[in-house]
Amino acid sequence: MSSIVFASTLLLLATPSTFAWGTLGHDTVALIAQNYLVKDAVTFCQDILNDTSDTYLASVATWADSYRYTADGKFSAPYHFIDANDSPPSSCNVDFNRDCGEQGCVVSAISNYTDRVRDPSLSSSEINNALRFIIHFVGDIHQPLHDEALEVGGNDIDVTFGGVDTNLHHIWYALTHAPPSQPTRLINGRDTNMPEKLIGGSAMSDAQTWSTDLISRINNGTYTPHKRSWISNLNVSDAITTSMGWARDANSHVCSTVLPEGQSAVEGMELDGEYYDSAIAVIEEQIAKAGYRLAGWLNTIATGDVGLEADGKVVMREPNSYRKGRVARPWSAARFARMAGGHRC
Ligand SMILES: *[C@@H]1O[C@H](CO)[C@@H](O)[C@H](O)[C@H]1NC(C)=O
Ligand SMILES: *[C@@H]1O[C@H](CO)[C@@H](O)[C@H](O)[C@H]1NC(C)=O
Ligand SMILES: *[C@@H]1O[C@H](CO)[C@@H](O)[C@H](O)[C@H]1NC(C)=O
Ligand SMILES: *[C@@H]1O[C@H](CO)[C@@H](O)[C@H](O)[C@H]1NC(C)=O
Ligand SMILES: [Zn+2]
Repeated sequence: MSSIVFASTLLLLATPSTFAWGTLGHDTVALIAQNYLVKDAVTFCQDILNDTSDTYLASVATWADSYRYTADGKFSAPYHFIDANDSPPSSCNVDFNRDCGEQGCVVSAISNYTDRVRDPSLSSSEINNALRFIIHFVGDIHQPLHDEALEVGGNDIDVTFGGVDTNLHHIWYALTHAPPSQPTRLINGRDTNMPEKLIGGSAMSDAQTWSTDLISRINNGTYTPHKRSWISNLNVSDAITTSMGWARDANSHVCSTVLPEGQSAVEGMELDGEYYDSAIAVIEEQIAKAGYRLAGWLNTIATGDVGLEADGKVVMREPNSYRKGRVARPWSAARFARMAGGHRC
C-alpha cells in the first residue's frame, strides 16, 4: 500500500518536467491558429478532435512527438524535419528531391496528412491522427534547425547556455520535444532553451500569454505589414510546393541567424548573451508565422477559402484556386463526420 502511494507520488513529481518540456512553441502556434480559424474550420477541427475546450488544437499539438517514440509511431520519426544538404552560412537552400529522403520528411508528411484529413474512406482515428500531425508539423517546419542537415540539425554542435553544457539544437527548442527518457537541463528551475527563457515557463498558461502577445503584433503591430505575404500562395492541392516555401523561409534563417559566422563561431561558446538577443526576434516571428499559416491552411482545408478570422469577423479573404481546381469541393464537416463514421451526426 505505502509503496503504491510512494510510486504514484514519484510519477506526479516526474510528470511536469518530462512531458511539459518543449511544448511551449507548439502550444503557442496552435493557440494562434485557433484565434484565426473561421467558424466552419472550428467545427471541422472540433468534430475530428472531439474537443470543444478552449485549447482544442493546442491540447494535441505535441502528440506527434510522443507518438514517434512508440513502436506504432516509429515510422513517423523522419516526418519531423527535412535535412537540407546545403552549406551554411555561405549557402542556404532546400531541394525536395535532394533532401526529402526515401522515408519521407516534413514536407511530404504535410502533403500526405493534408490529403488524409479530407479522405472520407479513412477511419475517424486515422483522420484524427492526420489533423494532429498537420498541427504539429506546420510548427516543426518553421524551426530553422528542422530544415538543416548540418551536424544532425545542430544536435552535435556543443554550446553552453547560462553556463550549462547543451547543444545548438536544444537551445533553439522553440518547436521541438525530446524523448521522455531524455533528462531536462534546468537553470534556476527553467529549461535551457531560448523560448522558455523569454516566457519563463512552458505551461499552457505560458503559451496563452505568448500567443496573446504575438496575436496583437499580427493584428496591429510589427507583423501587420507582413501577414498577407505569410499566407500568400497557400495551395492545399499542391501541399509540396506550399510547404517547400515554408521550409525555404525557415532554412534561410540558418544562414542569417542560427550560424551567421559558421559552426566554429558558436562551437563551445556561451550563447546566452548577444546570440540570444539576435535569435529571439526570429524565434518569435517564426512562431507567429507558423500559427497564422496553420490557420490559413486549416481554413482552406475546411472551406476551400483562405480566410482568417479575428474577433468573430473574417478579416482577410484571398481568392484561391482550390475551388476552381481539379479537386472537388471539400466535405462539409457534417458530411465528413457521417462518412467517417464520426460521433456527431
Ligand atoms: C501517409 O500516412 C500514412 C498513415 O500514417 C502512412 O502509413 C503512409 O506511409 C504515409 N505516406 C507517405 C507517402 O508519407
Ligand atoms: C494600432 O496601434 C496604434 C498604436 O501602436 C494605435 O494608435 C491604433 O489606434 C491601433 N489601431 C487599432 C485598429 O487598434
Ligand atoms: C494549385 O495546385 C494545383 C495542383 O498542382 C494547380 O493545378 C493549381 O494551378 C495551383 N494553383 C495555383 C494558384 O498555383
Ligand atoms: C468524445 O469525448 C467524450 C468526452 O469528452 C467521450 O465521452 C466520447 O466517448 C468521445 N467520443 C468519441 C467518438 O471518442
Ligand atoms: Zn516534432
